[in-house]
Formats: sequence, C-alpha cells, structure tokens
Amino acid sequence: MIMGYYTYICSSPIRHLPLFLLTLTALRVANGDVQKDFYIVFIRDHSILNKESSAVQQTHLDLLSSLKGSETEAREALVYSYTRSFNAFATRLSEDEVGKLSSMDGVGSVIPNRYHKLHTTKSWDFIGLPPTAKRNLQVESNIIVGLLDTGTTPQSKSFKDHGLGPPPAKWKGTCDHFANFSGCNNKLIGARYFKLDNFTDPDDILSPLDIDGHGTHTSSTSAGSQVPNANLYGLAKGTARGAVPSARVAVYKVCWASSGCSDMDILAAFEAAIADGVDIISISIGGSSGNYAIDSISVGSFFAMRNGILTVASAGNDGPYLGSVSNHAPWLFTVGASGIDRDFRSKIVLGNGLTVTGVGVDTFEPKQKSYPLTSGRDAAKDSKNRNLSSGCIDGTMDPKKVKGKIVYCKLAVWGADAVIKDLGGIGTIIENDQFLDIAQIFMAPATMVNSSTGKTITDYIHSTRGPTAVINKSQEVKVQAPFAASFSSRGPNPGSRHLLKPDITAPGIDILASYTRLRSLTGLKGDTQYSDFTFMSGTSMSCPHVGGAAAYVKSFHPSWSPAAIKSAIMTTATPMSSKRDRQAEFAHGAGQVNPVKALSPGLVYDTDEFSYIQFLCHEGYSDSSLANLVGQEPINCSKLLPSNSEDAINYPTMQLSLKSRQEPTTGIFRRVVTNVGPSQSVYNATIKAPKGVAITVKPTSLSFSRVSQKISFKVVVKANPMSSAVVMLSGSLVWKSPGHTVRSPIVIFNPMARY
Ligand SMILES: *[C@@H]1O[C@H](CO)[C@@H](O)[C@H](O)[C@H]1NC(C)=O
Ligand SMILES: *[C@@H]1O[C@H](CO)[C@@H](O)[C@H](O)[C@H]1NC(C)=O
Ligand SMILES: *[C@@H]1O[C@H](CO)[C@@H](O)[C@H](O)[C@H]1NC(C)=O
Ligand SMILES: *[C@@H]1O[C@H](CO)[C@@H](O)[C@H](O)[C@H]1NC(C)=O
Ligand SMILES: *[C@@H]1O[C@H](CO)[C@@H](O)[C@H](O)[C@H]1NC(C)=O
Ligand SMILES: *[C@@H]1O[C@H](CO)[C@@H](O)[C@H](O)[C@H]1NC(C)=O
Ligand SMILES: *[C@@H]1O[C@H](CO)[C@@H](O)[C@H](O)[C@H]1NC(C)=O
Repeated sequence: MIMGYYTYICSSPIRHLPLFLLTLTALRVANGDVQKDFYIVFIRDHSILNKESSAVQQTHLDLLSSLKGSETEAREALVYSYTRSFNAFATRLSEDEVGKLSSMDGVGSVIPNRYHKLHTTKSWDFIGLPPTAKRNLQVESNIIVGLLDTGTTPQSKSFKDHGLGPPPAKWKGTCDHFANFSGCNNKLIGARYFKLDNFTDPDDILSPLDIDGHGTHTSSTSAGSQVPNANLYGLAKGTARGAVPSARVAVYKVCWASSGCSDMDILAAFEAAIADGVDIISISIGGSSGNYAIDSISVGSFFAMRNGILTVASAGNDGPYLGSVSNHAPWLFTVGASGIDRDFRSKIVLGNGLTVTGVGVDTFEPKQKSYPLTSGRDAAKDSKNRNLSSGCIDGTMDPKKVKGKIVYCKLAVWGADAVIKDLGGIGTIIENDQFLDIAQIFMAPATMVNSSTGKTITDYIHSTRGPTAVINKSQEVKVQAPFAASFSSRGPNPGSRHLLKPDITAPGIDILASYTRLRSLTGLKGDTQYSDFTFMSGTSMSCPHVGGAAAYVKSFHPSWSPAAIKSAIMTTATPMSSKRDRQAEFAHGAGQVNPVKALSPGLVYDTDEFSYIQFLCHEGYSDSSLANLVGQEPINCSKLLPSNSEDAINYPTMQLSLKSRQEPTTGIFRRVVTNVGPSQSVYNATIKAPKGVAITVKPTSLSFSRVSQKISFKVVVKANPMSSAVVMLSGSLVWKSPGHTVRSPIVIFNPMARY
C-alpha cells in the first residue's frame, strides 16, 4: 500500500496510492498545509543557549511582553521555547504582530507553522544484508535510532528486548506511561509526543501510541528485533528484522491523524532527539519550503548534523514527475524508493476459459468457482451516472446490479473494493496503468489490471449474455529488480541546481514490517482484516532502510561524521540501470544502498558545518537569512565564496546545469577525499562521460600514505548544448584501488528541457 497521506514521504508509505490521497486530503488531512495562527520565531543570538532553559525562555517572554504590552499576555501567547539546539519560540500571533515582531532587534525569521503530510523482511536480504552479516554487537547495542513519526506500538514483537542490557549511558531521554501506552523496555527506550497546537484530535490519542501503523512500520524497519515467521495472511513469510536488531529505538510522535505533522512539533522533536542522545534520525515526513534556512526539517536536521547526528529523510511519493523531490537540503540524506524482486499477483479466470493476471494483495480464497461479472459502467443507476459509475464511485451504481457480482472498475478514487463490498458485491477488478508496481492491499477480493488486460475483460463482458469470473487469492511471484518505484519523487532538485537529489535508493515497495492492531489493514470502512505485520509502500518505507543502514555503518565507525557515513553509503551503492528508469540518477541518486559494502568505502567525501554554510552562500542565501542556522556569529558570505567552483560543496555526487542553448557549459568541481581504508593505498580514476560531454580529472591518481590523509582533486565537466527533448545525461567518476571502488555519479542537467 502506498500510504496515502503519509504515503507521500520517508515520510509516506503508500498505504493507498496517490489517488487515495484525494479522499484522504479531504477526509483526514483537513488541516493539510493550512496556516494557523501559530508562528515560529527565530532569535539571532545563540550565545545564550548555554544558559538555563528558563533563562532563555525568559528572554522569549521579555520579547513577547514588549510586543503584547504585558507579561501575562506574553505567557498566554507563548506556546513553546526552543532553548537547547537553537534559540526560537512558537507563539500565537496576529498578522499585524508578525510584521512588528519581524522588524524587532535580534529577531531572525518569523515563520508560519504549517502542517505536513507523512509522506521483512526480505528487503534486507535483497540489498545484501543477510541475517548472517557481520555485526559489531558491542557498539550496535549503544546505537540509538530516533524516529519522528506517528508513534509506535510498544507491544509489537519487533520491540522485544531479549538479550539487551539497560539503555546506553549516554541516553538522556524519557519514556513515561501514557494513555493506552504501556511504557518502554530495553529495546524501545524512548517515547514522547509533541502536539503543541493542543487542538483535540478525535481520531487520535494524546500518547506516543501509534493508531495509524506508519510509525510502527518505520521504526520496526530501521531497528526492529528479529521476529521469525512474520507474514501477512501467509504471504511473504520470513524473519522480519531491522538493519541493526540490537540497536535501540526512540520514537517522537509528531504526526496526528487529523492534522498531520506540524513544524512546531517537528522542531521540538528534533531538539529533544538531539538532547536525548540519539545517533541517527529517520524522518518520513514531507518537507515544504525550498528554503533550507526556514524549512523545519531542514533546520532541525542542520542542528542534528552540528551535533554529529545524521538525518535520513524520505524523498517523497510525488513521482514519477520530474522535480518532485522533497527534503533536499545538502545535510539531509534523501532517500528514493525502489522495488525488490517480489510482487503479488492474482489470477482472474474468465468464463470463456481465459486467465489474465492482476496485481495486489488479496488474502481472500474464493468460495465458488465463478461469479457473475459486470462493469461499473453497466451497473450505473441511470445513464447520467455512467461516467462516474465506470469508476465505481460511491452512490452512482444500482445495488441490484452489483449484488453477488464481480465488478470491473476504472481507477477513480481509492477504495472501490470497499464500495463494491458495501453494495453486496463479491469482488472488484480495477483498471489502471500507473501504479502497477505496488501491490495495493484490498479489504475484499480485488485486483488491479492494466488497460490492455482491461480491454480483454471488457471485450469478454460484452461478448456474452452471462459473463462470469473469479479472482484467486494472490501469490508471491519473482520479478526483475531493482527499479525505481513509480511513486518515488524525482529530481532535479527544486532547491538547488547544483545538488543532485535524491541521494540514494532503498526498497520501498510492498515492505513487510510491524503494524498496529488498532487499525484495519486498509483503514477502509468495513475492512475486517487485522494483522501484526503488513505491507506498506512509499519512500516512508525506504527511508528507515537507509536509517538502519546508517546505524549499521555507525556501529563499526562510531567516530565518523554524518557526512562521512552518508558518503560511505553513497559511493558504495549499487548503480541502477537507466534502461528501465529513463530518469536515471534523478530517480536513483547514487543507486541502491548496500550496507555491508558501506562499512568499507576506502575514501569518504567529508563535509562540515562551515562547508554547508559556504554552499548556502554560493546558492545566494543572504547573510541575514543564515542567522537561523548559525546564530549571530556574523557570516559574511562574500568572504566565504570559494573561487571558481561549480557547487562549493564537497559532495559525493556532482551535477552540472547547462547555462546556454548555444555555447558549451563548463563546470569545475573541487573535491577532497579522506582515506579511511588501508594507510598505503593508490586510487586511479575511471571516467565515464556521455556523448557530447567531456570530463577530466586532475590528478588521475591519488596516492595515500596514511589513514585520515586528505587529498584534493578537481573535475572539469564540459557539456555541449542539449536538445530540449533531453533532460539529463549521466556520467561518473570512479576511484579504484585493488580493494575499493568509490563511485560518484556525474549528472548533466538541462534546465531548458521540457519536463
Ligand atoms: C496546551 O496545553 C498545555 C497544558 O495544558 C498548556 O500548558 C499550553 O499552554 C497549551 N498551549 C496552547 C497553545 O494552548
Ligand atoms: C484506550 O483505552 C481505553 C480504555 O481502556 C479504551 O476505551 C480506548 O478504546 C483505547 N483507545 C485506543 C486508541 O486504543
Ligand atoms: C463521459 O465521458 C466521455 C468521454 O470521456 C465524455 O465525452 C462525455 O461528455 C462524458 N459524459 C458526461 C455526462 O459527463
Ligand atoms: C498488462 O499486464 C499483462 C499481465 O500482467 C502483461 O502481460 C502485459 O504485458 C501488460 N501490458 C502492458 C501494455 O503493460
Ligand atoms: C484458482 O484457485 C483455485 C482454487 O485454489 C485453483 O483450483 C485454480 O487452479 C486457480 N486458478 C489459477 C489460474 O491459478
Ligand atoms: C564582507 O566582506 C567584503 C569583502 O571582504 C567587504 O567588502 C564587506 O564590507 C563585508 N561586509 C560586512 C557586512 O562586513
Ligand atoms: C594506477 O595507475 C598506475 C599508473 O598508470 C599503474 O601503475 C597502477 O597499476 C594503477 N593501479 C591500479 C590499482 O589500477
């Protein structure tokens, strides 16, 4: 299932495909991206942060008092003070007050609080991390993975703590008893929730308890314990586990059933996770603004990075459209979704003996050999309704024409299976050409077919007086993989032409992981299927795979910086074929994550905070807009600008954007690699350049004599103008030593193309 509302992000499982979003947007995300009168106010002075929290909060009250006229009013208006990682507060303001506050001394940005959508398991074996892979258990059990999500299910077998000692000494977080939440153990060591708007949510509960299933799924994927015999009604049977089964999990619930995930809560959770001592943060929530200095996930993850914590985020489920990637700040690890070599198919046997195939998870064994077959169009209440009833939309069909039958529908909104069942129908065949790479879970017998199979079925319906059919229970089949998921958001990066995003790809289709018993499998009316494990699809699911992989790498290299861990995972990723996915790196980033290889990358492209600021300066961020990130320390971008560098960042990938339709474009990329392999090693460069592009590297050989030694080099990319039909071309630079392969994709992007 592509999780609908959540689905859309490392954020969203595709629980229901994007169309479902249409309904969900109306139903459940009533507040989706609606601006409330809450604002987040950033204060420039960060030097005060070493003081007591209450002292910092008093400065917020003083500022608000001077705006509101009294401390009483200030106290009423103040919602939350951020006093640990960054200096800011959340407050209620009128528009008028926003203007006044923005111009006050010492105030950085005043940002409206917005609500975001949330964007087994075989997947680990598929990417080469078998249960027998080497582990560094001693350190692994000190690793804490923090998840910002819908909470979790403490009773889940994925959070059994057998064999684990008490939480690591560095852990400063908390886990209390909450409503319907039994508390933590030595596996699930932290659980908190943030709901600063205080709006009552009739569909949720003020507790870290996950009533949605999304957070349970993501947290068990990243670091769940081993659970033998996990399956969904017998499908995909196997041992479910996270990448680091001995690592600890801390959950921060920031996403709520009715409202989604708000900026105030996301920032508060980042601050808490940093102070609590997590090692890796995984967040499967949609980012909003392209501005890295004000987007809450970008800002929160910047402070995490400053504290040595890598944040892994979902790229979004808005594919296959180009330019749809979200969470694309350079310090974020942006994860796209790919398919694994498993799919779920159902046979449809027609009355004329023909057998055709559909896609989806249908757990129902048919009771009869065949049933009468009709189409939504033919079952219309009256001729006026035919167009709507062909999509089997609720209220457009005549129940008498549906009862006891299998109904053929064109995909219009998600949940046709529930509509047909509600009318007394037996099953549903849904036609659609876009989302056939995901096995939607159905609440009644149903399957999804493409339009050519659909034509076979409708031709048959109209060829006979008494058409019949049966839909068989789904079975697991092997398919060619990996490939980019249709829904996975694609580059180019809308926030910067100089930065390739997504960074990496991981399995995100039909992932089996823990689920909640508080919600039926589909969440649709009338669904009676409940399970401890279920499939979800989305970059929400691929994100915790990379979060888990990062924790795995960290368990072997506890001192590596966030950028070094990210580089190790990117340069050792398995390149994916562009034959099936023509958007190539815009869909795949550096390729499919390979956790075991990432333990030994040979070289890393390391980057520090200063370098990220330099990048932002190069991108044209003003000195003052950077204050949210760096505080008052005066930044003078014109002093920081590096000379003659295409992207001003030491990134493991390179992207050159064409600047002219007539002239060739040349870009110079300056890079530094750090030796984390054998002390004496020599790396030679191999370049792959696409037609019309010349790529040179200098020097062509790097000779290291010690560990941690840094060597710089320069890559010059010269690209001829491209036809407006070509959006991008792919090249690469590979540094090879006898034991290591360090690969960087080089993408040439044509912003003048039609896309
Ligand atoms: C939310 O409720 C808490 C506890 O009752 C209270 O301290 C806080 O001021 C409230 N916040 C808002 C925005 O009403
Ligand atoms: C929470 O517990 C109460 C009391 O046992 C119960 O009525 C309610 O349904 C529970 N809510 C959820 C979401 O589990
Ligand atoms: C039904 O759909 C057809 C084809 O899309 C269109 O030509 C026709 O106008 C529609 N009829 C109604 C009543 O909307
Ligand atoms: C439609 O689905 C069938 C059965 O899965 C498959 O054989 C066929 O190639 C598909 N057709 C197209 C155009 O994708
Ligand atoms: C459908 O399921 C029935 C009952 O399990 C089985 O006899 C039949 O062979 C199946 N048909 C196909 C085409 O798999
Ligand atoms: C920033 O640096 C430039 C170049 O050194 C200098 O001309 C300018 O005055 C500086 N700006 C500020 C605000 O210090
Ligand atoms: C690297 O290149 C040098 C000089 O061309 C050559 O002697 C050496 O064997 C190469 N090393 C590798 C690992 O290919």
